[in-house]
Amino acid sequence: MKILITGGAGYIGSHTIIELSKIPGFEIISADNFINSTPETFSRIKKITGREIKNYPVDLTDFNAAKLIFSENPDLAGIIHFAALKAVGESVKNPVLYFRNNLNSLVNLLGLSSEKKINYFIFSSSCTVYGNIRNLPVSETTPLLKTESPYGFTKLAGERLIEDFCLSNPLFNAIVLRYFNPVGAHISGTIGELPINAPNNLVPIITQTAAGIQKKMFVHGTDYPTRDGTCIRDYVHVSDIAKAHVLALQHLIENNGNANFEIFNLGKGLGVSVLEVIAAFEKISGMKLNYEIGPRRAGDVDAIYSDSSKAEKILGWKPLAGLEEMMGSAWKWQKVLSGI
Ligand code: UD1
Repeated sequence: MKILITGGAGYIGSHTIIELSKIPGFEIISADNFINSTPETFSRIKKITGREIKNYPVDLTDFNAAKLIFSENPDLAGIIHFAALKAVGESVKNPVLYFRNNLNSLVNLLGLSSEKKINYFIFSSSCTVYGNIRNLPVSETTPLLKTESPYGFTKLAGERLIEDFCLSNPLFNAIVLRYFNPVGAHISGTIGELPINAPNNLVPIITQTAAGIQKKMFVHGTDYPTRDGTCIRDYVHVSDIAKAHVLALQHLIENNGNANFEIFNLGKGLGVSVLEVIAAFEKISGMKLNYEIGPRRAGDVDAIYSDSSKAEKILGWKPLAGLEEMMGSAWKWQKVLSGI
């Protein structure tokens, strides 16, 4: 069965290719235009899996370019759609860029899925769709509050579009996966997060600071109503997230025709503060991280963590890696990148 992974050279996309490659019967192609990734990732994937992945370096917002992938692969059966922009701050500065990129690509993929009768679709969404929620943990039935950023709104709008598309097309089967905070790197140290520009997310900022790429880092706010005043998030290992995509795809295929639109939270279910993440890093690395307390970052929610029991019950998904393993693998990968 041939599956298109969009954003195959990206962080979660590349780890998903590795996990899906372990399952017999799937052929994988990718569409990644490398705006936030590098072609070298495919050589790294080959080192781990032995597989050469055919990649289309196209911009999926360009309908004709996207269409070419579908005409060259008439046997395409499903799509896992990762390709998107995801920097919250950048989206606040440039909402048009986010709406254009994240929504036009989705519109094109759904239009082409309908034309080419492709019936399996998995969408990367985010816990950001819950907004600044007070009732924790959040489950899929928790009512959504206002999204805090244009990025978050593109995910919410994407979910809604897919839901409406499923209603209009009962043969189409889709799963939306709401990620909490994916971190860490593949156990081999051969692949991991590869920020092209300065990273925005906590864990790559920690590892880059420890590696001396950044002189110091800031903890964004210590006046939140949390146990140590810093924000609480639900960190989950990227390979656990990747495995959830394989389970979701298998569920779609086996469940064909039943509930054709489903949403799953993917988090570990544990709230961890920024200072606790730093402490875990310092413990596994034996280093003292050079950080200072800074002001709050715009758009941050105080605390969020997941009730992922639906994914466990229906998909059989159980995230295994703990915080130290997440930080250890992220650090191992950073050392490979930095030649330390
Ligand atoms: C947010 C979204 C997440 C989305 C991700 C994409 C929410 C709740 N989460 O993640 O769904 O997929 O963006 O990028 O909206 N921090 C520091 N110093 C730093 C960097 C970060 O203290 O230098 C803190 C942040 O203030 C935050 C925590 O670390 O409290 C995690 O930040 P980050 O890794 O950027 O992820 P989220 O903002 O939670």
